[in-house]
Amino acid sequence: MATQIFMALGMNQTLGMASTGEGLQVLSPRHLRYHETWISGGNGMHFLVTGGAGYIGSHTVRALLQQGHSTTVLDDFSTGHRWATQGQAVIEVDLKDLGALRTALAGTTFDGVFHFAAKSLVAESNREPQLYYQNNVDGTAHLLTVALENGWNRCVLSSTAAVYGNPITDTLGEAHPKNPISVYGQTKLAMEHLLERTCADHPFSAVCLRYFNAAGAASDASLGEAHDPETHLIPTALKAAAGTGKPLTIFGDDYPTADGTCIRDYIHVEDLANAHLHAMNYLADHQGFIACNLGNGVGFSVKAVLAACEQAVGATIDYSIGARRKGDPATLVADATRAKDVLDWQPTHTTIEAIVASAWVWERTWEIHEDRRG
Ligand SMILES: NC(=O)c1ccc[n+]([C@@H]2O[C@H](COP(=O)([O-])OP(=O)(O)OC[C@H]3O[C@@H](n4cnc5c(N)ncnc54)[C@H](O)[C@@H]3O)[C@@H](O)[C@H]2O)c1
Repeated sequence: MATQIFMALGMNQTLGMASTGEGLQVLSPRHLRYHETWISGGNGMHFLVTGGAGYIGSHTVRALLQQGHSTTVLDDFSTGHRWATQGQAVIEVDLKDLGALRTALAGTTFDGVFHFAAKSLVAESNREPQLYYQNNVDGTAHLLTVALENGWNRCVLSSTAAVYGNPITDTLGEAHPKNPISVYGQTKLAMEHLLERTCADHPFSAVCLRYFNAAGAASDASLGEAHDPETHLIPTALKAAAGTGKPLTIFGDDYPTADGTCIRDYIHVEDLANAHLHAMNYLADHQGFIACNLGNGVGFSVKAVLAACEQAVGATIDYSIGARRKGDPATLVADATRAKDVLDWQPTHTTIEAIVASAWVWERTWEIHEDRRG
């Protein structure tokens, strides 16, 4: 299948036109390469998506289907949802179980693997470090063992800004020191190291994507965030505004920021999903290992997010001010220049209002998705 990609790239080095919804746009050769590889529909490929029943994994499955590809979802449904698998083939297996994984995947071939499956609650990770190392690090070791045994050679990994720890610069580039302050961040850094070593020792290539704060929902509200417990600010604030959630606590309003609350970089889940397609596309003609940040490069304070949520819902949010949480830096904002330059990726949902608005459509149409729960 890699051969097919190279053929498509080689044959199309002329300028072309595409419809953007705002009239025709001249495409550069670089954009045409992307267009031909992913949008022509003639190159439908088959990917394994671990954690494809989860929030970001399911949106990536959706983006792959929209580009004419097909997927097999591998998930243990520990935090994922059957309704989120979108009719794709499902392998229900726990990555911690190497024997079951080997049996389930023996003899399979995939054009690449997207590895989303992980546990990702910071507080839980600090309470249960053994579980997090087993699930995230051993699980990744098992996946890579099976990948090498079956001759798969490309992976896009979900990593996180939590690998950096406390920032020592205003925005975080990939070269920022990695000193994770949670067990979750430590396991993600260990997953990165394992993948990097696999790429050094074997004919295997990978892009590791370090997300900042994923947010928002599919633009047709067919998918969205449904964590239990929900710890992310936007769904929690929307539920509080709509009167369907718990009272909201802001953890500290005495940080050295303009309004005293923490500043974070929110990146729309569809932009994240799209970045995964760009990353897999990059691996069609690049070897080795690379890590890229994914963020908007702009930070919003907790109070600014609450204001956007109030505006979307048309109701005020009652909140109380609590103590700072241990290990919460004042500001976490991505420098995503590398993803733009190397992966040819740009976020398109750049305002907090747009991100919150899509999350709100998902929240308020939740009842109609009741039948998809399982
Ligand atoms: N949501 C964010 O803001 C964010 C930010 C940075 C990084 N990430 C990373 O992105 C990835 C996806 O996050 P999400 O928010 O979609 O989480 P999620 O919990 O919605 O999805 C994770 C999926 O992995 C599955 N899974 C977990 N452990 C498994 C195992 N041992 N075997 C098989 N399946 C398993 C779960 O059932 C679930 O479907 C994770 O790796 C997470 O660390 C998320």
